[in-house]
Amino acid sequence: MILIKLGGSIITNKEKPLSVRRKTINKLAKSLKKINEPMIIVHGGGSYGHYWSVKYNMHTKEKKYDLRGVAIVKNSMIELNKIILDSLLKNKLNPYCLPPTDFMSGNKPISKKVKEIEKIAKSGLIPVTYGDALWYGQKKTYILSGDKVMTHLAKILRPRLCIFVLNEDGLYSDLKSKKLIYELRDKRYLISENKMDVTGGMTRKVEEALKISKIGMNVFFVNGNKPERILKAVRNRKFKGTLFRGKRNV
Ligand code: IPE
Repeated sequence: MILIKLGGSIITNKEKPLSVRRKTINKLAKSLKKINEPMIIVHGGGSYGHYWSVKYNMHTKEKKYDLRGVAIVKNSMIELNKIILDSLLKNKLNPYCLPPTDFMSGNKPISKKVKEIEKIAKSGLIPVTYGDALWYGQKKTYILSGDKVMTHLAKILRPRLCIFVLNEDGLYSDLKSKKLIYELRDKRYLISENKMDVTGGMTRKVEEALKISKIGMNVFFVNGNKPERILKAVRNRKFKGTLFRGKRNV
């Protein structure tokens, strides 16, 4: 089984609030159709969820955020999710919509529910979930990123492979020249190299990718504008992207 995260930067236009990249989404769906293996899809918020969370000053920390913001972020994620589901359906895939509330309780995944997601994927349906605004408890809420969802699912399900689909070739060691890191070996390298493109959104992705690779799975960062690279990663062929080699594969 494989876990795929469609980053907000590839499925939406991050420069423009509430705008999707329909053509790219369709191209991605067409590539995913060629994967003959159970898979779970997670998607990000991009110019939908992130736009509203910034507007309402909502973050990953559990707090008493503006309830209006919670409602609007959730609604915008449903809207983006529907666009993804429609595209998958149109391309003859069978998505199974799973909002994160289905398998999260507070900020913890419900193991039994997550294991059920695996069964759904193995039946041939494609579970699709996403980052969202979530209830935490005691009137507090928080933003759960799709990247974190990837780690939660990977820890419990131990997929063969995790892929983060980005709007970039991978992780760069130098932002200006876009020098690609083909393999990130360990965290010390990351800390000592401060010129890397690991600010903001990328930092979180790298953190989650390192966590997943540490528990043994290979993680790939690939450019979703070149969807064939996703297929190459799945088929274990040489391709352009960044690999976080899982410990058990070293
Ligand atoms: C975003 O999820 C969730 C919300 C802002 C509601 P992600 O943090 O995974 O989104 P991207 O992929 O970085 O856009």
